Amino acid sequence: MTLAVDARGVRKEYGDLTAVEDLTFSVQQGEILGVLGPNGAGKTTAIRVLTTVLAPTRGTFSVAGVPHTRASEIRLRIGVLPESAGYPERQTGREYLQYHARLYGQSVRGASATADELLREVGLHERRNSSIDAYSRGMKQRLGIARALVNSPEVVFLDEPTLGLDPAGQRQVLALVRRIANQRGATVLLSTHLLAEVEETCTRVLILNRGRVAADGTVAEVSRLAAAPRSARLRVPQDSVREALQVLSQARGIKAAELADGRPGALTLTLHDDPGRPPPSAVLCDLANGGVPVLAYELEGVRLSDAFLEMTEGSSND
Ligand SMILES: Nc1ncnc2c1ncn2[C@@H]1O[C@H](COP(=O)(O)OP(=O)(O)OP(=O)(O)O)[C@@H](O)[C@H]1O
Ligand SMILES: [Mg+2]
Repeated sequence: MTLAVDARGVRKEYGDLTAVEDLTFSVQQGEILGVLGPNGAGKTTAIRVLTTVLAPTRGTFSVAGVPHTRASEIRLRIGVLPESAGYPERQTGREYLQYHARLYGQSVRGASATADELLREVGLHERRNSSIDAYSRGMKQRLGIARALVNSPEVVFLDEPTLGLDPAGQRQVLALVRRIANQRGATVLLSTHLLAEVEETCTRVLILNRGRVAADGTVAEVSRLAAAPRSARLRVPQDSVREALQVLSQARGIKAAELADGRPGALTLTLHDDPGRPPPSAVLCDLANGGVPVLAYELEGVRLSDAFLEMTEGSSND
């Protein structure tokens, strides 16, 4: 099966600044890939490179099976909603879409039919004859998505399609994204800051940080990775603390153990996060074998949002 997007070691420099350092990932056809990352992570730059607006400094990629060296062929097969799309305010939504359909070589009649179909698809048909300057932000975003669909693209790139929308507008756009994948069978790559959006809408997630891939997988995989407990709280009788620390210093799966502030006998454990580690409960056996009674043991999970923050902490590039 042809990969919808396949990037290998893509790098993009702006003068001295490396915006995308080493981007390697792939997306299967029909997937919805959420690209997450803090401000300056390189999301927009990556989208600009993959949509052939900017040439990569290094690396190779293909989109819809077409190598990046054939940029104009890629452009015919993709649709793009850029980060800050501008609209001609005096045109109506219908005129705007007709114009863009004509740019792809459609006849006048064909372009009208395409515009009407798309206006229905994005829920703007009733407002098709209003000028765009009377559209709300959410309506403009949906018009921009409709424009990205005029050439029935195989791969659609949406750069923060829900930015600045209220919850209702956001839901409409996300429903539209799902329809693009499910009904058109197109692949969608969307960038966002919002984890909830990715969890709700995307089948795969790519977390970017300083131009590098910090995590890549299905939403379930990345959530599972993120949800793995990273630390635990342990309480032992105060007079067993020394023995407990002794056992813990040798327990597999425990990276560090230290006295916690507060209650006597309370310890904080840092768990190893490699997947091959023993289960976090194994330490209870070690303690029991070492003759240390356990009064309390509690794992602290990490939510996807915490993992995202951890993977990208303090790294806004702006
Ligand atoms: N045209 C440009 N010239 C020079 N530097 C740029 C240019 N565009 C982006 N950058 C820099 O490249 C880095 C990545 O920016 P980019 O816009 O790709 O990030 P982003 O993840 O889309 O951020 P945001 O979430 O704010 O949209 C930033 O440090 C940014 O300042
Ligand atoms: Mg951006």
